[in-house]
Amino acid sequence: MPDTITIIDDRTGKTVTVPITGGVFPSSALRELDPNLFMYDPAYLSTASCASSITYLDGDAGILRYRGYPIEQLAAKSTFLEVAYLLLNGELPTAEQLKTWTYDVTHHTMIHENMRKRFVDGFHYNAHPMGMFISATAALGTFYDDAKDIFNRDSYNKQTVRLVAKVPTLAAMCYRFSKGLPFVSPNNSLGYAANFLNMMFHIGEDYEINPALIRAMDILFILHADHEQNCGTTAMRVVSSSNADPYTATAAAAAALYGPLHGGANEAVVRMLSEIGSIDNVPAFIQSVKAGEAKLMGFGHRVYKNFDPRATIIKTAAYDVFEVTGKNPLLDIALKLEEAALSDEYFISRKLYPNVDFYSGLIYQALGFPVEMFTVLFAIPRTVGWLAHMQELLGDKEQKISRPRQWYTGVDERGYIDIAQR
Ligand code: CMC
Repeated sequence: MPDTITIIDDRTGKTVTVPITGGVFPSSALRELDPNLFMYDPAYLSTASCASSITYLDGDAGILRYRGYPIEQLAAKSTFLEVAYLLLNGELPTAEQLKTWTYDVTHHTMIHENMRKRFVDGFHYNAHPMGMFISATAALGTFYDDAKDIFNRDSYNKQTVRLVAKVPTLAAMCYRFSKGLPFVSPNNSLGYAANFLNMMFHIGEDYEINPALIRAMDILFILHADHEQNCGTTAMRVVSSSNADPYTATAAAAAALYGPLHGGANEAVVRMLSEIGSIDNVPAFIQSVKAGEAKLMGFGHRVYKNFDPRATIIKTAAYDVFEVTGKNPLLDIALKLEEAALSDEYFISRKLYPNVDFYSGLIYQALGFPVEMFTVLFAIPRTVGWLAHMQELLGDKEQKISRPRQWYTGVDERGYIDIAQR
């Protein structure tokens, strides 16, 4: 069987034959038939917008790999900074490379005092931390003259180190501000996840974090580090394609992540579980979902139609955390909800399974994070994935400024009507 597809324009009888590579064919071939012919594909349901060698995802088989490594192996054996290096550089670091990378990230965690004093402190006292995080990330770029020098590899790498190092500091700063707590400076003797937890929760002299909780945070960071062309990453690529600086593009990607259908779902899940309130109310809630009155947040995925491998790892990690913190009271409701949904024809026929957000919120809550911080916790590690995609895009000769076409469905030309006659 030839690996080609032949398209016939029935209006003219013209044909074009194009190769299929890796399940993809170049739709630009259509222009050979008619330069004014475009594919109509709302929400990119059947469009590959780029070639990428960062993350492999097979939704039917429930497979997720970063640079070829299965997510299960990375979550079991790696650290977040190692995975970040892998995503950004294509290979796992050697011991020496990891030492340098860790040193560089650790020594760029500080944030200019004016960011806090003049910018973050200007927010309303009850500002949502994600709104603060998005704007603070964009504002951070204004502190670096070289941020716009995106085609200079040394400069781009420097911005990458700065962003990866500073997003946890920014996130903790937004949280502490919203709680009226004094800012805690980064501590260079701590690892990435431990330093973040310390900046978030350090109060008093003898504050110590249980190593099991640090490891759980690190695993959550690993699982969220990249997920190929989702809404946030697509926003990153679209904004980067105009050659904006990495801080502005990261802020745009974080803005896309904020919505409840994307990274905001973890917050929505905990709110939903709290509203359900008791396992006795689960059947009625499932009925309301089936009647179209509610959505089962944390279920369903555009790509995963079998199971989300991240959800499986998170569920196990949740139990490790609960051993230290005690069980999250919402866990029983979540388990009952999962059981009810997985045995119900509505969810089975639509291939709806728990996604990454179904259990992550329960761990975050057990770790002490308020729900408003959940999407920020997603944005911290995803910054690595976004930057890897921006870097890939900038080096991709086939890419240009993103500029889709539209199918105009408005009225045809008509004459202007004077206001008195309208
Ligand atoms: N609860 C109830 N019904 C659902 C759900 C859900 N969570 N998700 C999808 N459906 C139904 C939907 O109503 C539709 O039914 P019908 O065929 O009768 O019209 C069918 O399943 C297909 O859904 P869709 O909306 O066409 O699927 P999509 O690929 O456009 O949407 C999704 C994917 C993730 C936006 C959607 O499943 C959803 O809204 N889930 C809840 C929000 C959520 O958990 N988001 C986190 C996604 S994972 C983290 C990330 O990477 O962002």
